[in-house]
Amino acid sequence: MDVKLERINKNFGAVQVLKDIDLVFPSRKFVTLLGPSGCGKTTLLRMIAGLEPVTAGAIRFGDRVINELAPRDRNIAMVFQSYALYPQMTVRRNLGYGLRVRKTPQAEMDAAVERVAGILEISHLLDRKPGQLSGGQRQRVALGRAMVRQPDIFLMDEPLSNLDAKLRVTMRAELRRFHLDLGATTIYVTHDQLEAMTMSDMIAVMHGGIVQQFGSPGDVYSRPANLFVAGFIGSPPMNFVTGAVAASNGQAAFKSPDFTLELANGSAGGAQAREVVLGVRPQDLTLVQNPETAPVRGRVWVVELLGSEKLVEVMLGDRRRLTVQVRAETPVSVDDEVGVGFDPQRIHLFDAKSGIALRS
Ligand SMILES: Nc1ncnc2c1ncn2[C@@H]1O[C@H](COP(=O)(O)OP(=O)(O)O)[C@@H](O)[C@H]1O
Ligand SMILES: [Mg+2]
Repeated sequence: MDVKLERINKNFGAVQVLKDIDLVFPSRKFVTLLGPSGCGKTTLLRMIAGLEPVTAGAIRFGDRVINELAPRDRNIAMVFQSYALYPQMTVRRNLGYGLRVRKTPQAEMDAAVERVAGILEISHLLDRKPGQLSGGQRQRVALGRAMVRQPDIFLMDEPLSNLDAKLRVTMRAELRRFHLDLGATTIYVTHDQLEAMTMSDMIAVMHGGIVQQFGSPGDVYSRPANLFVAGFIGSPPMNFVTGAVAASNGQAAFKSPDFTLELANGSAGGAQAREVVLGVRPQDLTLVQNPETAPVRGRVWVVELLGSEKLVEVMLGDRRRLTVQVRAETPVSVDDEVGVGFDPQRIHLFDAKSGIALRS
């Protein structure tokens, strides 16, 4: 079932935390609300669940406005960061809890619990108590408790943030797989851009109570709508250089105190003589063997090894730096004079004042 948000606003007293949110969560898709702490993700999720009143605007499930519908009538399941299982109950009783309070017949409840335990591969743990499980197993039980009722809509609020880094990576893939198997509309909240990128069909990037961009992971990565999205998505973060675009002999160029860069035809998108910010990802820069031939030159300030890759921080002037990501075997050391190569197709330009992307 589609979930639609129409001009949703939320105030806590005099403070407006969500402003005119318009979003469509398509049926059976995995959509992530991504943004820094405090941007209103949990509040929005709680409004969809019916746990928080809506100040203004409409929430629709399909065509029906459900603003006033009680949480228990929304056929929603929610998984939180703290997945509070009942410690004195077995996994089986924890899983069946939601059905038991609804007075579901025993046989039906047993079948539902067995089915979900099978999907989550926790059938062998059904008679244990939460204290006898690992973190990942507990998280699976929490998911199972939500799945048991076969909800139309899954809401998840940072469900992996209490797990250690390695388990988070495993659980990302598992959650994605569960979603494909279950096919429920899923709205997932996280502040972790990598989680959002790896798991989602669509991402709504939020900041300051506003949706900054709504698109596929590929869209928000390759065509960020503004400086906020450009800086928030991708790791290590995009490099930004302030400058201006000027044309000479019909060729547009980006000019900054440290370097001048010829731009691909049309990429300036009407930016002539405007203050702009040039953005380029560390992965889209290269180190050039002969610094003399490179448009940008500098001195290596620090090198960080990341395993198969390394990050090279190149100092341009006396304080501006560019991060370049290269293969680990690339020969480069601190204090080397290096050239930095740009791919004109892989730079981003933003209006310096509004932060909005300039496009041809
Ligand atoms: N019950 C509340 N009363 C007052 N302010 C709140 C309440 N809940 C959240 N807020 C404020 O609303 C903003 C958004 O919070 P939240 O939705 O929890 O953000 P996120 O989940 O993105 O970190 C924050 O500034 C937070 O302090
Ligand atoms: Mg939150």
